[in-house]
Amino acid sequence: MRILTACDHGAYELKELLRHHLESRNHAVVNLGTDGPESVDYPDYAAKLCRALLAGEGERGILLCGTGIGISIAANRFPGIRAALCHDELTARLAREHNDANVLVLGGRTTGAATALGILDVWLDTPFAGGRHQRRLDRLEQVTVRG
Ligand code: RB5
Repeated sequence: MRILTACDHGAYELKELLRHHLESRNHAVVNLGTDGPESVDYPDYAAKLCRALLAGEGERGILLCGTGIGISIAANRFPGIRAALCHDELTARLAREHNDANVLVLGGRTTGAATALGILDVWLDTPFAGGRHQRRLDRLEQVTVRG
C-alpha cells in the first residue's frame, strides 16, 4: 500500500519508527513532515495529509501529535476522512472493522513504541466489515456539514 504520514513536533520520532516498520513490510511511505523538534502547528500537518489522501496520492494515512487528539480533531474536519485515534489493538481493529478508518492516529507522548507497532499491524491487516457499518458510514456522509 502507499501510505502517507505526517505529524507535529510531539511525535516525529515515533513517525520515523513507524516508517521503518512500514518499509520492512514493503509498503511505500510518503512522508509529509515534520521531521524535527521545532514547534509546528498540528492543523497544518493534518490538512497537508488529508488533502493529499483525498487527492488520491495514497491509499491510507497516519497522523501523529503529542496526544493524537488535536490532529484527530483537525483531520476529521475533512469530509471523506475517517481518522481514528487508537490506543490499543482492540481500538485499531474496531476502527477498521466498524469505521473503515482511512487514517490511523497515534499520540507520540502517550503511546509507547511496542504498542504503536502492534496497533499499526492490526490497522493494516484488518478489513472493513461492511454491512450495517457501511450504512452508518453512508449516514455519516449525509449528515456532514459542508462549506
Ligand atoms: C503540542 O505541544 C501538542 O499540543 C500537540 O502535539 C497535541 O498533543 C495536541 O493535541
